[in-house]
Amino acid sequence: MSSERRTRAAIVRKFHDGSAEASDSILERALRIAPGDEDRDGALSALLQRFGNQNFSFFGGTPFHEIREIFRAISPQPHEVFCDAGAGYGHVVFYGACVAPCRFRAIEILPIRCAAMQRTAQQLGLGNVEIVEGDALTQNYDDVSYLLLNSPFFPDAAAQFIGKLAGT
Ligand SMILES: C[S@@+](CC[C@H](N)C(=O)[O-])C[C@H]1O[C@@H](n2cnc3c(N)ncnc32)[C@H](O)[C@@H]1O
Repeated sequence: MSSERRTRAAIVRKFHDGSAEASDSILERALRIAPGDEDRDGALSALLQRFGNQNFSFFGGTPFHEIREIFRAISPQPHEVFCDAGAGYGHVVFYGACVAPCRFRAIEILPIRCAAMQRTAQQLGLGNVEIVEGDALTQNYDDVSYLLLNSPFFPDAAAQFIGKLAGT
């Protein structure tokens, strides 16, 4: 690992173990999370027309102090899979990959956000984060140990999703 990568990982780990606080913007920079120009080519409007019942808003992403509490509470093990359905730019999975030894899956419907996550994974040198570009409603969750769902759906799609997980 390069010394730059080590420094970035150390910022996240120190925040996680409580030995040094860091703001969300410092953590975003350390994790190489870089939101792009979302509607440069009109793709967002096209997706909104196609999947009108989905919440593409990025607002309401999980803040890092809450992500820290999640990973402190669950402490995932190497054989486990943590999945974020509606991963946005990957704040949760990339933070997790710095502090937990399990495998991560980021499912995101918007191609621009998936491309940004691919770049982040490459820059962080992470091999344990799988990025799936697709609809969280149609994925298989059988191997998932922890599933994070932070408001990707409006109520009717959310009800379908819960029904799918419950096997109804
Ligand atoms: C509020 S953001 C949450 C991001 C991240 N999970 C977090 O907690 O910080 C919700 C994300 O879900 C995505 N999304 C919406 N509908 C989706 C679907 N059907 N499948 C996959 N992703 C979806 C949106 O594009 C958005 O990036």
